[in-house]
Amino acid sequence: MFALKLDTVDSRRGKEAGVIIAIDGPSGAGKSTLAKRLARQLGYIYLDSGAMYRALALKLLRQGVDLTDDARMAEIVESTAIDLRESDGKLVVLLDGGDVAGEIRTPEVSQMASKSSALKVVRARLLELQRAVGKRGSVVAEGRDIGTVVFPQAEVKIFLDASTRERARRRYEELCAAGRPVAFDETLRELEERDKRDSERDLAPLCQADDALRIDSSNVDADAVAALVLDLVKNRAREINKIGVGFHG
Ligand code: DC
Repeated sequence: MFALKLDTVDSRRGKEAGVIIAIDGPSGAGKSTLAKRLARQLGYIYLDSGAMYRALALKLLRQGVDLTDDARMAEIVESTAIDLRESDGKLVVLLDGGDVAGEIRTPEVSQMASKSSALKVVRARLLELQRAVGKRGSVVAEGRDIGTVVFPQAEVKIFLDASTRERARRRYEELCAAGRPVAFDETLRELEERDKRDSERDLAPLCQADDALRIDSSNVDADAVAALVLDLVKNRAREINKIGVGFHG
């Protein structure tokens, strides 16, 4: 069974539920940086939906599962536990009880997450878990289909984008900094491949919700993007009289 532990989540919530902030966009657009920052400043739950897809992908790779084997896929989805938690401000990704946060950012896992996330059996289960987290609001969720499918009712929707080259450059630097040197051209090629697959799949493809604000972060630094979105959240919360949007510096 998949399980998402909500104890840490509940302890972080104030008495009043705040809004849901949906951040979608392609890889390397700066979604994680923005989402983590907003969650910290607002005292909200940070829901990294990609980390869930990645954790499952890691298991599929470890077990050499054939994605076209429907029965095996259903069995794996049913028998895998994925928990997201937070420890000392860091995201802990528990796969069947073990923290795999340090293993899910490799190019192999990225590609497998992109491939397996196109499958109905995978999306259905993860969707259920993601919605459970959003039930009482006060969530910053990032992914590909948050504003379109997971939380179409989200009060604030951002579609964060950047040029393909800039996104590849960021991904390349991240991998190098993590001690995983790669060729830039290879990073660019893999990113383009993943963009194409994520946006052309039949189920919940990457696309901008009609009511999302599109921000191009190619030439804007993370501080400026965060300041812009925080303002937007404040205004939106005021507009709809939503309490629980506190700021924690
Ligand atoms: O955001 P990320 O790069 O960690 O996501 C890894 C893959 O997971 C991405 O290529 C597609 C899939 N994904 C998805 O299909 N839907 C989401 N909401 C989040 C991620």
